[in-house]
Amino acid sequence: MNNSEVFGWKFSKFINNKNFIFERDKILDACGEDNVIDAYNSISGWQNYKSTPLVKLDKLSKKLNLNNIFYKDESKRFNLKSFKALGGAYAVQKITKGNKSITVATATAGNHGRSVSWGAKRLGLNCKIFISEFVSEARADVMRNLGADVIRVKGNYDASLKECIKQSKINGWEIIQDVAWEGYEEVPKLTMAGYSVMIKEISNQTDQYITHVFLQAGVGGMASGAIAGIAKYFKRIPKIIIVEPETADCVLQSVEAGEMQKVNIKKESIMGGMSCGEVSLVPWRILKHSVNNCISITDEFIPQTIAMLEKKYFGDKSIIAGECATPGIISLIAASEDKNIKHELELNEKSNILLMGCEGDADEDLYKKLLNQGIKQII
Ligand SMILES: Cc1ncc(COP(=O)(O)O)c(C=O)c1O
Repeated sequence: MNNSEVFGWKFSKFINNKNFIFERDKILDACGEDNVIDAYNSISGWQNYKSTPLVKLDKLSKKLNLNNIFYKDESKRFNLKSFKALGGAYAVQKITKGNKSITVATATAGNHGRSVSWGAKRLGLNCKIFISEFVSEARADVMRNLGADVIRVKGNYDASLKECIKQSKINGWEIIQDVAWEGYEEVPKLTMAGYSVMIKEISNQTDQYITHVFLQAGVGGMASGAIAGIAKYFKRIPKIIIVEPETADCVLQSVEAGEMQKVNIKKESIMGGMSCGEVSLVPWRILKHSVNNCISITDEFIPQTIAMLEKKYFGDKSIIAGECATPGIISLIAASEDKNIKHELELNEKSNILLMGCEGDADEDLYKKLLNQGIKQII
């Protein structure tokens, strides 16, 4: 990669949050500060626990004239290949306390269900997983191999969640859902608290103050869990930028309107885990005031980004990054190449950027397909 060459990558939309006010106490109240503390203490005691790597993308930071770019590589999380390992499995432990007569159930796009299945297996519990027609068989197989009973439901994610709730009521199963709704908040808070462990690790992994963090959002659980971690563990608060697919920009639209907005998804993004039309209730309480900016992107640059990470274009290490691990890099590059936005975000030679590499090749078939497509584009 030549330093004078530009990527020519574009984002779709960029907005400022007019209601921004970062209040540590309110954020920690919304997630439960005790949950945040307990999540790290519990999870760090699990067998085979290890912080995931915080990789420096030095070639990219040089090219974009930034001080540092840190990439949190969640492909290495407990062999489950995504940050979701921290949420669902932790909630299973807290809710069931290991009581083997309890059956847990959840609806999932893949990674959350893998975490719940694994959490149930760790404790010897029965587990029921509901998936939509859009979840690949490869993802379903991973959950079956973790001992879960996988139930495929006609329709989209919402249909799978409805069926999960219905059957759980009839059979007395305990729902371990990462999405909150009216009257269902405890489990989503626990999953968010689990995600805050990533930030605790980062606070131990670097002594550089992070100035900007790009957080992917689907329903906003990961982003708000990370923000709770920032409120708890970071001395200085970085600029917080939410990234979403342009076809499912529910956080962006909600922040812009100052209240929750529903998006009617007309086309599913390849970033399957982020293709969500509605922000979850508990995350929204955190996101509405703590986010500085929102940005949306198309799927166009995902294959190239996957290939560039694997082929060490951005740093010295080869990184396995799934589709949802790419939006931080794509939006950072696109923002840096837009003079006005670069200035507005204060992206400069003093900036220390944090990107969340949320998943590895969690869907191996899709990963291989995107990687091969990307390799053809970059050579
Ligand atoms: C694999 C994966 N699934 C889902 C999500 C979305 O998480 P949430 O729905 O908690 O916002 C992300 C990242 O944002 C992700 O990387």
